[in-house]
Amino acid sequence: MDAKIVLLPGDGIGPEVVAEGQKALNAVARKFGHRWEFETCLIGGCAIDATGSALPDVTTVACKQSHAILLGAVGGPKWDDPRAKTRPEAGLLKIRKELQLFANVRPVKAYDVLVDASPLKREIVAGVDILFFRELTGGIYFGESGRRPHSSGEEAFNTMIYNTGEIERITRMAARAAQGRRKKLTQVDKANVLEVSRLWREVSQRVVRDEFPDVQYEVLLVDAMAMHLISKPKCFDVIVTENLFGDILTDEGAMLPGSMGMLPSASLGSSGPGLYEPIHGSAPDIAGKGIANPLATILAVAMLLRHSLSLETEARAVEAAVDTVLNAGHRTTDIAAGGKSVSTSEMGSLVEAQITKS
Ligand code: IPM
Ligand code: MG
Repeated sequence: MDAKIVLLPGDGIGPEVVAEGQKALNAVARKFGHRWEFETCLIGGCAIDATGSALPDVTTVACKQSHAILLGAVGGPKWDDPRAKTRPEAGLLKIRKELQLFANVRPVKAYDVLVDASPLKREIVAGVDILFFRELTGGIYFGESGRRPHSSGEEAFNTMIYNTGEIERITRMAARAAQGRRKKLTQVDKANVLEVSRLWREVSQRVVRDEFPDVQYEVLLVDAMAMHLISKPKCFDVIVTENLFGDILTDEGAMLPGSMGMLPSASLGSSGPGLYEPIHGSAPDIAGKGIANPLATILAVAMLLRHSLSLETEARAVEAAVDTVLNAGHRTTDIAAGGKSVSTSEMGSLVEAQITKS
């Protein structure tokens, strides 16, 4: 297969981990006889420095013409001034909207060899296997916002809006995924307070009842979910929720397997390229030190192969290579629990060699 893949290294540790993701992609190409054409583009803080925009038009155009996009991370203290005209994060929000990537898919899976790196007890975490579907192009992140004068100074507002179609399409995607797994879907909302949540509940309930009768559907309020996610995470299979709740819950969920450095994500639309990234951020405190864990990005590569290129065997080969390397005891500092560790590029090379050997 020939495919065009856009690399968006971004800021902080982004370039370091994307380089290792590219190594894995190249190993797959050699092993399975594919050809990737790579194009590297700017996004985030480095794009602001170079062009004034967090998402230059050339980046958007390249992404739209690609089969898939591999992103590192955006942001850092250098661009954190609240009065700045633009912020790195704006580039991320814009690319999601431009490519209509309405579904953010985040698997949270406990690796048995890493369970003791989790801040939670082994008996709670071992065996956890959750698939989050976070709505990504609607809700309060994209609603009308602003500031206006107020007798005490100023007031600011953000608006949360969702329509039937937006809820239907992500519910369908999540329910379809549940059908291929343990057939359970949990919809998270705040329907005891928010009108938007009441629409979510009505619509998602109807979609599952009418179109996915074999899927067990339950609803949970977001505050309760925040508790259950750490008290009984094994009870969940697929979770679907709106943008802001999903942002918060997926970070909470990321703590279950021990390190954020292990978790990939995919942002998908109904057609066109998907965007794949590690869920950890730009980690400016460790940028340039060569100690970042590249496994989340390498696992994002597996998702890219699976979802955008339909290369299931290749995706599994990458995941199996990661398993083998972990089982052999290799660790980056974040998962080494104070023990011996390898660098970012050593870890990438270990996985690369394992893909080649498989
Ligand atoms: C994420 C990030 C982004 C988000 C930020 C950087 C805008 O936290 O992908 O979860 O909130 O969506
Ligand atoms: Mg987040």
